[in-house]
Amino acid sequence: MLSRAVTVEPTARVRGQLRLPGDKSISHRYALLAAIATGPTVIRGYSTGGDCGSTIRCLRDLGVTISAGAPGSEGIDLRIEGLGPLGLTVPTGVLDAGNSGSTLRMLLGILAAHPFRTAIDGDSSLRRRPMKRVIEPLERMGASITSTDGCPPLAITGRSELEAIDFEPDIPSAQVKSAVLLAGLHASGVTRVSERIGTRDHSERALSAFGASLHFNGTTVSIEGGQTLTGQVLDVPGDISSAAFWMVAAAGLPGSDVTVDHVGINPTRTALLGVLRRMGAHIEVEVLDEWGREPVGRIRVRHGGFTSTVITPDEVPGVIDELPVLAALATHGGELSVSGAGELRVKESDRISALAAGLRGLGAEIDERTDGFEVRSRGPLVGGQADARGDHRLAMAFAIAALAATGPSVISDAGAADVSYPGFFAVLDSLRA
Ligand code: S3P
Repeated sequence: MLSRAVTVEPTARVRGQLRLPGDKSISHRYALLAAIATGPTVIRGYSTGGDCGSTIRCLRDLGVTISAGAPGSEGIDLRIEGLGPLGLTVPTGVLDAGNSGSTLRMLLGILAAHPFRTAIDGDSSLRRRPMKRVIEPLERMGASITSTDGCPPLAITGRSELEAIDFEPDIPSAQVKSAVLLAGLHASGVTRVSERIGTRDHSERALSAFGASLHFNGTTVSIEGGQTLTGQVLDVPGDISSAAFWMVAAAGLPGSDVTVDHVGINPTRTALLGVLRRMGAHIEVEVLDEWGREPVGRIRVRHGGFTSTVITPDEVPGVIDELPVLAALATHGGELSVSGAGELRVKESDRISALAAGLRGLGAEIDERTDGFEVRSRGPLVGGQADARGDHRLAMAFAIAALAATGPSVISDAGAADVSYPGFFAVLDSLRA
């Protein structure tokens, strides 16, 4: 499935109204917290993506009972029987986090407090991803972690008496912040994480939704150890990072009009909307509700021309997952320059070099920089071939770039889209107009 090649034909425009499967970041967190909460949790609209499946698989291997309904276009319903604090049990084999850095890094935060040894591995992409950023703070708190040159496979031996730390991460990373907060939940004293640039705050909101109390001071968050979580009934908002593909398609193709409903509009995830507006799109946002502690809304996007745009280093954490598809938009028209995004090199692929190679394969003009890229549109792409290199966001970004080409394009490894958005190519066809 993962090596599937897909041919993408151009389209004049996209139109439609749709809902998205549950947000990947929020889904991981609800499942992880449900596992260590007291009592059952029901999660509605859990992401159907392979990554969130990896979190379920790992939790089951740690003794958690999880029952799942049938997957639908808006996600899957789960019931998770919480084992309570320090209730996870010794797994019989090596945990498999698949392609999912979120599963691995956040699970380490929880396992840091469980006094047994757990070995964790993943696929060839995960084996290249840096883990020192999470190993160092968790070892300071008292866990022991062995790794393979700072990457998986690794093994963690936790300690039930962790010590709280004050932590200032070098890299803006919500996964690292979350791992430390999750360990802090079980540590003695108050654990503090101070970020230079704030990252997505889903863990903080999820911990609050499960009954924990946290303190905030600017981009510093503190959690006192020894708090118990209580099982909940929670709905997961639609994934704005998946919606980004349709929003960009609508922004790039004249005459397009796409509305996404019940999508998460957490302000730490909506920087994309500001960038799209700067690039020329017409965007309307309506706040609909709050699910758990997450705001939910409706976003309508229409094409409005193309403006050359710069994304600065401070903005990067807010749009880190959307940079490939924003590059795709700049191939439709205008220019986009991004710097301070060296983190892209250690995502599911080296997203700077793979993005540049793939977009060039479709006929785009793109310069690769150490910490970013510059894309210039010189008229419509001709189409061609792009290799997603097993990276879900690249598979989908290349498909969106290909929509405005003059001829068809072949995306190889396009099945990688299933990691976050199964059904992506079918939805794409349903929006053609
Ligand atoms: C995520 C945080 C980001 C993001 C990833 C999901 C999360 O990664 O790129 O897709 O759910 O916390 P980093 O924490 O490595 O920046």
